[in-house]
Amino acid sequence: MGNLKGRDLLRMTDFSPEEIKQLLALAKQLKNQEISLKCPKVLGLLFYKASTRTRVSFSVAMYQLGGQVIDLNPNVTQVGRGEPISDTARVLDRYLDILAVRTFQQADLETFASYAKIPVINALSDLEHPCQVLADLLTIQECFGSLSGVSVAYLGDGNNVAHSLLLGCVQMGMNIRIACPPGYEPDRSIVEEAKEIAVDNAQIELTQDAKAAVKQAQVIYTDVWASMGQESMADARIPVFQPYQVNEELFADADPNAIALHCLPAHREEEITEAVLEGSHSRVWDQAENRMHAQKALLASLLGAET
Ligand code: CP
Ligand code: NVA
Repeated sequence: MGNLKGRDLLRMTDFSPEEIKQLLALAKQLKNQEISLKCPKVLGLLFYKASTRTRVSFSVAMYQLGGQVIDLNPNVTQVGRGEPISDTARVLDRYLDILAVRTFQQADLETFASYAKIPVINALSDLEHPCQVLADLLTIQECFGSLSGVSVAYLGDGNNVAHSLLLGCVQMGMNIRIACPPGYEPDRSIVEEAKEIAVDNAQIELTQDAKAAVKQAQVIYTDVWASMGQESMADARIPVFQPYQVNEELFADADPNAIALHCLPAHREEEITEAVLEGSHSRVWDQAENRMHAQKALLASLLGAET
């Protein structure tokens, strides 16, 4: 895992397929084995948006590695009052060993990374959510034994989670169909990038037909219809996205062993029904747990811990 030491994770494509494989193998290993950082390290969490899973799983992972966590809430630090990111990043760099940032603009993450020499992790931006997808890949690998050739259907908004999922899937040789209402497709540039980096003939299909997307799919994945920062659009989106709801009916056309994933938090009876979320196909609680294992492997790798 030495090859990841000191690196940033701002985009899903910042790690090669081989590096993702190694990280997932380490995450699997760390489920049963304790490791400690060579000397106690400090992780800063700078979150401009709400978070339960990311905040707590990063914190617990760091504590279990023997490290410490500082919550750099922007409401009580100067960056929230307008101190430039470039200044904040250079100062935090002198104190911390690693920094996870949850923010709106991907460009702000790039600024943090360019001014801080310590590793900077994207804990969610409007563009991507790579930490989520590392845990998703771990969950899919646990369910199907491998990743290559697994078929994933993502239904709903072409958002940050969809972007990282698309990129992560094609990096691992998986097939992905994305079904979105017109006008809510993933960014064209991300789709083009995914086509360029697809390995082992990984197939990408964009459609407006939810039923066609889930045909024979092994994984059916959804996320909220309005992301953080889009709250004012939430009500207007409900009728537009209704045909993309993940419900039990859809599983009739999927692979018999298909699993349902959702990054959470979920809005029951909107993007996913209660019956699916709490039903036999659901793996969402294992998926949420895997955030911690995947991020522990990530922290250990970026900080150069020894197993
Ligand atoms: N899935 C996810 O990132 O959850 P939180 O917003 O609770 O961190
Ligand atoms: N797309 C969602 C994911 C939350 C974990 C959002 O950005 O709000």
